[in-house]
Amino acid sequence: MRGLDSIDQSGENEASRQILDQIGRRMLKRRVDALKNLPTFPESVLRMNEMMLSDQSNQSFGQIAEAIEADPVMTARILRMVNSAFYGVSGAISSVYDALVMLGLDVVRGIILSSSSMDLAAGRQGVRGLREHSFGAAVAASALAKVLGVSRVEEASAAALMHDIGKLVLASQLGREYDQVVSRAIRHDQTIYQAESDMLGVSHDVIGKWLVTRWRLPASLAEPIALHHTPEKSRRYQETTAIVHVADLMVRGYGFGFAGDMIMPDLSQSAWRTLSLNARKMEKAVKLMHDDLQKAMVQANLYVFE
Ligand SMILES: [Fe+2]
Ligand SMILES: [Fe+2]
Repeated sequence: MRGLDSIDQSGENEASRQILDQIGRRMLKRRVDALKNLPTFPESVLRMNEMMLSDQSNQSFGQIAEAIEADPVMTARILRMVNSAFYGVSGAISSVYDALVMLGLDVVRGIILSSSSMDLAAGRQGVRGLREHSFGAAVAASALAKVLGVSRVEEASAAALMHDIGKLVLASQLGREYDQVVSRAIRHDQTIYQAESDMLGVSHDVIGKWLVTRWRLPASLAEPIALHHTPEKSRRYQETTAIVHVADLMVRGYGFGFAGDMIMPDLSQSAWRTLSLNARKMEKAVKLMHDDLQKAMVQANLYVFE
């Protein structure tokens, strides 16, 4: 009799565990869906974004620079970032106005949004590693773009800086549940991309797409961010998308930062073909990435978002 009781009990436990699991999953899904509305940035950042988006013929760079410079922390971050050796204008930019003129509104906007996303996730487990991974990817993308001789090196680099922005938002908004996704990826030898899909039903590239659509980033930045794991789907910005995809792998292979998993995702053959890559070009790009990362560490630009 006792035996039957305990079987009944364990059956009940199993049933209630399943119900709790279902409720938990439904609640998690609701929280992931709620990320589409992302009302989380400080008012000042949203204002800067709006200002830089509004009719640019009516907004002089001077006024925009003035608005940004009202925030000394953001100003310092922008100047440290754009003066990093890998931007190719090292030490030459001394004001936000110069940054806007030399790099363009969208690249500076990308830096502001990415640094604000890092703020959102500050203190969360693994965010420091992710910040290094993002910075390293920006350095790698710039190195690759230079070796391949593509125009708009800064654009490729800004897209790479932001490519995993969806992870930052997931980490900041889901907290403990996202830690579990990272643990699962490590435990099961999965990519973080697979673990997100399995546990959350959505991956960080999709979240990245929601974000950049909401922020109205230009397609030249938005497409590489949204498709960095599926570059073969790119139609308009295949070159930049392929560069961001390869840069992500370059910085992982180099062992710099932490992307949230311990295994290398597959290299897309389509990205390799799009860039006409070969071993010699890759070797040159890795060497340049290494040199630029070393310089960035010496300049202490590495922790640009602290
Ligand atoms: Fe990613
Ligand atoms: Fe990444």
